[in-house]
Amino acid sequence: MLKSLSRTFIVFKLYRGRLILSQVLLLISASSAIGVATLTQTLINEGIIPGNLDVIVDTGLWMAVLALVGGATMAATGALAVFFAQGVAFGLRKYAYDNIQRFSFANFDVLRTGNIMVRLSADVNYVMLAILFMVMLVLYAPFMIVVAFILTAVYAPSTIWILIVASVVVLGFMGLLLPPLVRAYDQRQKRLSDLNDTMQENLAGIRVVKAFVQEDREIEKFHQRAESMRHPSYRAAVRVALMDPILIMITQFFILLALWVGGRQVIEGAGMELGQVVMVVQFLSMVIMPLSTLAIAVPFILRGDTSAQRIFEIIDAEPFVKDKPDAQPLDPEKVKGRVVFENVTFAFRRPDGKLDPPALKNINLTIEPGERVGFLGATGAGKSALINLIPRFYDVTEGRITIDGVDVRDIPQENLRRIVGIALQEALLFRGPIYFNLKFGNPEVHDDVMIEAARAADAFEFIVRLPKQWEAPVARRGYNFSGGQRQRLAIARTLTAQPRVLILDDSTSALDVATEARVQDAIPQFTDNVTTIYVAQRISAVIDLDRIYLLQHGEIIAQGTHEELMKTSPLYQEIYESQLGAGLKPSSREVAS
Ligand SMILES: Nc1ncnc2c1ncn2[C@@H]1O[C@H](COP(=O)(O)OP(=O)(O)OP(=O)(O)O)[C@@H](O)[C@H]1O
Ligand SMILES: [Mg+2]
Repeated sequence: MLKSLSRTFIVFKLYRGRLILSQVLLLISASSAIGVATLTQTLINEGIIPGNLDVIVDTGLWMAVLALVGGATMAATGALAVFFAQGVAFGLRKYAYDNIQRFSFANFDVLRTGNIMVRLSADVNYVMLAILFMVMLVLYAPFMIVVAFILTAVYAPSTIWILIVASVVVLGFMGLLLPPLVRAYDQRQKRLSDLNDTMQENLAGIRVVKAFVQEDREIEKFHQRAESMRHPSYRAAVRVALMDPILIMITQFFILLALWVGGRQVIEGAGMELGQVVMVVQFLSMVIMPLSTLAIAVPFILRGDTSAQRIFEIIDAEPFVKDKPDAQPLDPEKVKGRVVFENVTFAFRRPDGKLDPPALKNINLTIEPGERVGFLGATGAGKSALINLIPRFYDVTEGRITIDGVDVRDIPQENLRRIVGIALQEALLFRGPIYFNLKFGNPEVHDDVMIEAARAADAFEFIVRLPKQWEAPVARRGYNFSGGQRQRLAIARTLTAQPRVLILDDSTSALDVATEARVQDAIPQFTDNVTTIYVAQRISAVIDLDRIYLLQHGEIIAQGTHEELMKTSPLYQEIYESQLGAGLKPSSREVAS
């Protein structure tokens, strides 16, 4: 029980000393409160009733000191508990984040990014809350209750039944009130997260919403979500509002009962004195308070455990792509760049961990050092899947891929990704100056390399026209640049890293044909003898290359130069015909260059 939550306590050995200190302080605080209650007995029986001023002053002073100690230790524990919860939250987030950086692409397929965000925010908060409750209550509440019972049994045994009945009534009341409250909270939480999703999606896609004039429908959707949250929120709030007054009522009732039962005994001289009666009254609230807080805490602690489990799933997840212990790095300077696929089959992984039907089947191909080849195919044909295998973003399901004869799985990933440079299909930039983005893969590289890379990617012109040039700020995800500019910056970033095998995944799709041609003519001049792999849907992007592989439904169905494919492949001819309308005749290349 509470396995994951207790693990947070074990993991954070660092704070163990403070955790123990907090519990010691809590016990001091509890003992002080009990001491004050016990001393009232002396104060009344030996001070007030006999009229002994010395006893009153003495006992009163002691009580004041105890109250002070109790308050101070409780405050210190509160501070420690918060510190501890924050420390655990920090540690959980850090460990999770560190491990996420080790994840391979397939881990994200299984764990979905949105889901990871929820785990790192909402779930961490639940764990924090649970830890606060545990630190403050797990030892304190039972201690307080047990001691109050023992002392009542010792000093006023005839009234102990009142404590028992009061405990049963409080627990019964909480048992009635809490489950629906927790249900309402859960429902509210779920609907809040629906509402957040709706809001996020709308704000991210606000341009699409406006373009399709769908504002009214979005407003209506938001209204419904917000409305559906109101009901459980209301139910939860009403119950919370009811809880305190009812608890106070119950406490008052039992205090009255104790006064009545005890008072009668005092008057009748049946064994109890006034001091004991007042003491029992104090013990009553010392039992009821922690008991009700404990009842509130239990569901939160259980929820915290589930949340901790979800976070540890991230912390414990093993990357699907791992380095072998005996993996040997290759010297990037000496890599020639011969890339071979041998009988490669590949399937994606579903969120449940099982494999999809293969996205690539039986791929066999050899790309010689320094060759420039292209992969052409319709959307969904498997082009990105294929090239993502080379830098091991995913591992092959069957077969193998070699670079200069070495299986990529025998090369450490870090080394492999310095050798294989890839401009991903989505040209994603980071917030920061342009030079930071361009030197992302290699911050130490000389400015000249960056500048030449920018020239090769046809980005030089627009960068130097910016007021701050290389220092010009890039907004989050690169939103302050056009799609084509982003793609060219992404190409320049990959070129700046000076890979031995260069892969451009549909990296010129947003460029006009003339710019695309300029980029393709400039790249080989920058990348001397670098094996270069282009991925494209448009023939214009691959027409000049040494060899074109035609991909369909995860299989290579034809290969050759443009001229060869025009003769041998009906599908290629068909694609060629269909793209002629876009002005993609070979002659257009000549016009452009
Ligand atoms: N992360 C993923 N998880 C599961 N299936 C995927 C994933 N990525 C791609 N697929 C599927 O694998 C197949 C090949 O996708 P891939 O991205 O390689 O296509 P593509 O040829 O690059 O297409 P495009 O030209 O649109 O980029 C598609 O059917 C796609 O739905
Ligand atoms: Mg793709």
